[in-house]
Amino acid sequence: SAPAPAPLKNVLVTGGAGYIGSHVVFVLQQTRRFKVISIDNHHNSHPTALKRVSELSRAALGPNPTEQDIQSTEVDAHACDLTQPAQIRAVFEKYGKGGIWGVVHVAAYKAVGESTEIPLTYYANNVGATVSLLQTMADFECRRFVYSSSATVYGTPPIIPIPETTRLQADSPYGSTKVMAETIVEDLCHADPRWRAISLRYFNPAGAHPSGQIGEDPRGRPGNLLPLLAHMAVGRIKEPTLKVFGNDYPTPDGTCVRDYLHVMDLASGHLLALEALESKSNIFGANAKAHFKAYNLGKGKGMSVLDIVEAMRKATGFNYGLEIIGRRRGDVPDLTADPALAEKELGFKAIENLETMCRDLWNWQTKNPKGYAAED
Ligand code: WQD
Repeated sequence: SAPAPAPLKNVLVTGGAGYIGSHVVFVLQQTRRFKVISIDNHHNSHPTALKRVSELSRAALGPNPTEQDIQSTEVDAHACDLTQPAQIRAVFEKYGKGGIWGVVHVAAYKAVGESTEIPLTYYANNVGATVSLLQTMADFECRRFVYSSSATVYGTPPIIPIPETTRLQADSPYGSTKVMAETIVEDLCHADPRWRAISLRYFNPAGAHPSGQIGEDPRGRPGNLLPLLAHMAVGRIKEPTLKVFGNDYPTPDGTCVRDYLHVMDLASGHLLALEALESKSNIFGANAKAHFKAYNLGKGKGMSVLDIVEAMRKATGFNYGLEIIGRRRGDVPDLTADPALAEKELGFKAIENLETMCRDLWNWQTKNPKGYAAED
């Protein structure tokens, strides 16, 4: 008879109820190899998201699922705060020493503008909480770490597309929290070779799971371009025009260029990172000084604000009015990834195109005009 499957590995996903987190949880559950634990304070997420993820995973089970298969579709969800060390500890206590195999740390505050207004909140949540999390992980013999970083660590990069070797130079408190947390993890890995950590520098995630059951649902008015365009098209935002933050940048059409990738591709990148930590793959090199590596997750294709508006006009049929206003503080002309390292070492490839991102975003938005709130 077939050998008994390996027992599920417990993986903690912080921010598991969020836009990126919920798609990461779904992708991990599809492998049937992980049992996901989530910690989320719901500052910018909804508990309903993880219920939807479990429904999707259960629906994807085969005809005679084993008990373990069913287990893999359930999330152990904790609505608590990473800035409270006791609350992190309580979760690890539940699983005991060595009980949690690895951590995917996605939870963070991420609005560049807001971070200039309340920097301490950002340092406490994005840096302080990361230190508490790492300390608790060490106490419980858990030393595999996938960190959610951001292209904002590059500031205004000297070359485009951006390789990982580019100097880190944040130009917002938010970006600084990402640089600091990466540095903290790298220093930890230098100090203790038992740690194995990968930092994933996200470019611009977009879209939703093709079922339309989960998607991006920021609390309050969206700061990001794509959810804002979706809210306008579905009538959730009544503003007559999209305010374009400047068209005097040194770019083809004068508006900022970004590297948009489908959130499902981004989520798959997290599974590949965990698999790199799982296997004896030598992404760190035989005599590495530290088992730490950072990878860009992007398509390597830059698209301007106007390209995005046109793609969403086609996907939604909504005729966006445009109003060109001044530049937004913290915006840089172009953030386009060189995705070669992640492709080579993790086997990562962002395959979905912009049309699919917009189609899936619109499918989610039309099926959930009010997002998750209707069910919270
Ligand atoms: C995209 C482009 C704006 C809104 C953000 C976060 C960053 C990261 C990814 C976490 C920019 C323009 C936007 C609007 C506009 N998140 N825009 N009018 O700024 O690249 O990055 O998401 O890691 O931290 O800052 O994405 O979607 O906010 O903006 O003209 O009403 O759209 O200027 O050029 P951004 P965005």
